[in-house]
Amino acid sequence: MSKRKQTLGEFIIENQTSFKYTSGELSRLLNSIRLAAKVVNHEVNKAGLVDIIGNAGDTNIQGEDQQKLDVYANEKFIQTLTKRNIVCGIASEEEDDFIAINSQDENNQNKYVVLIDPLDGSSNIDVNVSVGTIFSIYRRVTPLGTPVTLDDFLQKGSAQVAAGYVVYGTSTMLVYTTGHGVNGFTLNPAIGSYYLSHPNMEFPEDGHIYSVNEGYYSDFPVGIKKYIKYCQEDGEDRPYTSRYIGSLVSDFHRNMIKGGIYMYPKSSKNPNGKLRLLYECNPMAFIAEQAKGKASDGFARIMDIQPTALHERVSFICGSKNMVEKAEEFMRNA
Ligand code: AHG
Ligand code: MN
Ligand code: MN
Ligand code: MN
Repeated sequence: MSKRKQTLGEFIIENQTSFKYTSGELSRLLNSIRLAAKVVNHEVNKAGLVDIIGNAGDTNIQGEDQQKLDVYANEKFIQTLTKRNIVCGIASEEEDDFIAINSQDENNQNKYVVLIDPLDGSSNIDVNVSVGTIFSIYRRVTPLGTPVTLDDFLQKGSAQVAAGYVVYGTSTMLVYTTGHGVNGFTLNPAIGSYYLSHPNMEFPEDGHIYSVNEGYYSDFPVGIKKYIKYCQEDGEDRPYTSRYIGSLVSDFHRNMIKGGIYMYPKSSKNPNGKLRLLYECNPMAFIAEQAKGKASDGFARIMDIQPTALHERVSFICGSKNMVEKAEEFMRNA
């Protein structure tokens, strides 16, 4: 008989001592995220049965139409993290500004801020295709007991303490890193527990899948166009297979398991790229690097970029190490 799988709760406790700072606060924070993800998962699974699909009627700070599930997931994550009083600040793709949580209270010793994409791939909700949640955790840089400021959120990705995503797919998985590799947990919906199903996840060094929205091809930088052509040409192990779901979390998850590259370059429609540095690119870059992959803006490491605004966008190329390096070579030589 196969060995009983460890639950996420057990894993968090067991690995608590390997965190850089061991107050138990980060464990409580990860526990809150797993709880909120379960609540969102429940609602995502009901889409189609209850009035939760479709447009919420508002536009977010990104200029995107908010979907009902964007709003719902945003509320659930913020509520869970606020009510349990374990972070001092939250920034979200769906919020204009960051939210301070009792951070001015001198008795408030909470030292973490969370940045979140509550629902990733929201254009896929209505058609029953996988969506996700992405989160990123930093230690505040301002002193405890003083109000959090923008500086606490505008940290380089390399300062992340933890990052992860939930993929609401054929099964629901939570995948995260605290800087000691990447582990994936699958939710057993009958019991409501996540079990360690994918220990020590790693990108294969090479891959055969490329993921990019080729609809914008004519607008892409020359280096990206040439790299896409390279993916399509006959070669030793080419042409590669094209796979693009349109949910970053799901595209990334597949590529990490099978080997591949994800690209969202800039174009005239999105002059700085579309994906958000703080809520999407940095957390995915941290997971990628911890899984022996790479994440770049085409020229430089994503996690070395100094953010200057909460909702900043950036070109994003991420995946199997040798594939990302090849794409960078095309960018450099373009
Ligand atoms: P979000 O739903 O959080 O706004 O993110 C959507 C992102 C990402 O998930 C996906 O990879 C990308 O947008 C798809 O964009 P296109 O439809 O332009 O390909
Ligand atoms: Mn959005
Ligand atoms: Mn997203
Ligand atoms: Mn989103």
